[in-house]
Amino acid sequence: MSATTSSTTQTRMPRHLLSMADLDAGAIRTVLDTAAQMHDVQKREVKKIPTLRGRTIINLFFEDSTRTRSSFEIAGKWMSADTINITGKGSATSKGESLRDTVRTIDAMGVDAFVIRHGASGACHQVAGWVDAHVINAGDGTHEHPTQALLDAYTMERRLGSLEGRHVAIVGDLAHSRVVRSNLISLQRLGAHVTLVAPPTLMPSGIGAWAERDGFALSHDLDGVLQGREGKAVDALMMLRVQKERMSGGYFSTAREYTVGYGLTRPRLADLVERNPEIVICHPGPMNRGLEISADAADAAQSLVLDQVSAGVAVRMSVLYHLLAGEDTPTVGTTTEGSAA
Ligand code: CP
Repeated sequence: MSATTSSTTQTRMPRHLLSMADLDAGAIRTVLDTAAQMHDVQKREVKKIPTLRGRTIINLFFEDSTRTRSSFEIAGKWMSADTINITGKGSATSKGESLRDTVRTIDAMGVDAFVIRHGASGACHQVAGWVDAHVINAGDGTHEHPTQALLDAYTMERRLGSLEGRHVAIVGDLAHSRVVRSNLISLQRLGAHVTLVAPPTLMPSGIGAWAERDGFALSHDLDGVLQGREGKAVDALMMLRVQKERMSGGYFSTAREYTVGYGLTRPRLADLVERNPEIVICHPGPMNRGLEISADAADAAQSLVLDQVSAGVAVRMSVLYHLLAGEDTPTVGTTTEGSAA
C-alpha cells in the first residue's frame, strides 16, 4: 500500500466481491478511504495511473447497464488495465453456450478479473466457483449490487459526514431491488439506522423476520416516515426504481396510485426540505421521472444523483485496486510517467 493510505483501517480483502457481506466494517472503510484518493484522479488533466498495468479485466454484462458498465470500464482504463466488454447479445451465449462454458473459455485466456452482471440471482457466486480470476458482482438478479451500495455510502458520507447514527429511508420497489439488499448490509455496518418503505405488494417475502433479526424498520407509510411520526427524522432518502421489466403481475393498480402513495412528488419534496434543508436524496438510477421521483426532486439541490454517478468511478477503482493490485502497489502516488502526482 502507498503511504498515502496509511490512515485507513486496512482489513484483508476477500478474493471476490460477490456480496456486501464479503466486506466487514473495516474493509468497507478501507474501500471508501481509497475511493476518496481515487476520486482525485477524476480531477486531473491526465486521468491515468499505472496501478493495474498488465492486468486484464472482462466486463461481462448479460443485462443492460449505463452507469455500472461504463464506470467499471473507465475505472479499469484510468488504472491502466486492459478492459474488454462482452455482452450477452454479441457473445456465443446467443448461440446457446452456457454461462459456465463462457466464463471458463475466457478464464482460459488468462484474464485477471470478471465484472459480471446477470439476470439470475447467484450467478456471480457460481462463476466464482468456476474460474481462477477474481469475480466482482455488478448486479445479479434481485440478489445484490455491492459496488452500488459502496458508492451510495461514499456519496452520502461526503455530504453528511459519518453515517453512524444517521437515519436512511429506502423507498420503493424493494421486492425486485438488489440495491436494497446490498445497502442494508453496508449501511448497518456503517452504523446507520435504516427504514424500508414500500406498499405491501412490493416488500420482499420474508422481510419481517429479516428486519427482526437485523434490526431495521419497515413501514408502508411514506409520509409517516418522512414526517418523523414513525421515529427518528430522516437524514437521507433513497428512492428506488419501479422495475417494470421484472414485474409480471399487478403490484399496484395504476402508476398514479403508486406516485401518490410512494413517489417523491413536488409537494413531498417541499415539505421535506422545509423540515430539513440538509436532507439528501439518492437514486441509484436509471430513474422513472414522474413515477417514483419527480423531476423537481431529481434535480433539487438536495439530490445526490449525479454525485452518485461520479463516485461510481472512484469506488470501482478502489474495489479493483483492492482486489487486483499487489500489496506494495501504490494507489495514486505516481502517474503513468512515474512522476509524483
Ligand atoms: N445503478 C445501476 O446499476 O445503473 P445501471 O443499470 O445503468 O448500471
